[in-house]
Amino acid sequence: MPFRVLVTDEIDPEGLALLAAEPRLDIDEEPTLPRDELLARIGSYDAIIGRSATRISPELLRAASRLKVVGRAGVGVDNIAMDVATELGIAVVNAPAGNTVAVAELFFGVVIGILRQLARADASMRSGRWDRSALMGTELHGKTLGIVGLGRIGSAIANRAAAFGMALVAYDPYVPESRFQSLRVERAADLETLLGAADVMTVHTPLTDETRGMIGRRELALVSPGAIVVNMARGGIVDEQALVDALQAGRLRAAAVDAFAREPLAADSPLRRVENLYLTPHLGASTTEAQRNVAVDACAAVRDALLDGELSRSINVG
Ligand code: MLT
Repeated sequence: MPFRVLVTDEIDPEGLALLAAEPRLDIDEEPTLPRDELLARIGSYDAIIGRSATRISPELLRAASRLKVVGRAGVGVDNIAMDVATELGIAVVNAPAGNTVAVAELFFGVVIGILRQLARADASMRSGRWDRSALMGTELHGKTLGIVGLGRIGSAIANRAAAFGMALVAYDPYVPESRFQSLRVERAADLETLLGAADVMTVHTPLTDETRGMIGRRELALVSPGAIVVNMARGGIVDEQALVDALQAGRLRAAAVDAFAREPLAADSPLRRVENLYLTPHLGASTTEAQRNVAVDACAAVRDALLDGELSRSINVG
């Protein structure tokens, strides 16, 4: 009997083709299913593949009596109850590398957009104006970029920032000295040192108990006045209300947020009304290339786990 695979959320066709080419796999492709429907159906599947929109809750995993693998077409696994998956022996495979470039490029797009007032310039042109003198910008060159989390994405941003002529400082207690040296990034002894040094401060950590609320009211008060704060990692790492308050108090020049504590962001969220807060709807990994990369990586890992028991890409069981 073939293994049954449920593909939920939007997974790039190139990844799906890898599964479809296997006669021993039976694929059901569904859009993001409502929680109850997913719960009712999960018991008949051997694997599920999705993005962050599908929450793989403890309840869902316990109802998934045949489930062997969860495939995450992306890097973050904060939407998956990892401890329960591990307890039940369900392998979780993700795609940690495929969207690194996409996030790094979006970071520079957004920060340069802020520094050069691109959204304002476009809006003013569309309203018939020619606000050339009001739309003076500033440069990345010579500014200090503070990176919290020097993993894949933090490192990719550091590399590119060096090419822009930025000074680099990072805080990451889990990364060896050699990475700081090879990237020519100054190591901040603690988070406070980084906050005080950065003209642009950005977080690139997973969301864990340690990082939830890591940039709160106290930390935002330590950020150099007039700095730009960016959260493209996960909602909740930068406290949203504290960020709104810091912007409204004029402590920050601007902020950019791409990932939110609750997604989709509520239509009436106060975040949508704050001046100098640049919002994007979790677009970090939304490039054709990144979505193809992560779909291929996740689908291949699920296929190999089911058909060959190959678990070298599992991040919880081996
Ligand atoms: C990721 O975790 O890979 C990105 O945030 C995009 C996504 O959630 O799919």
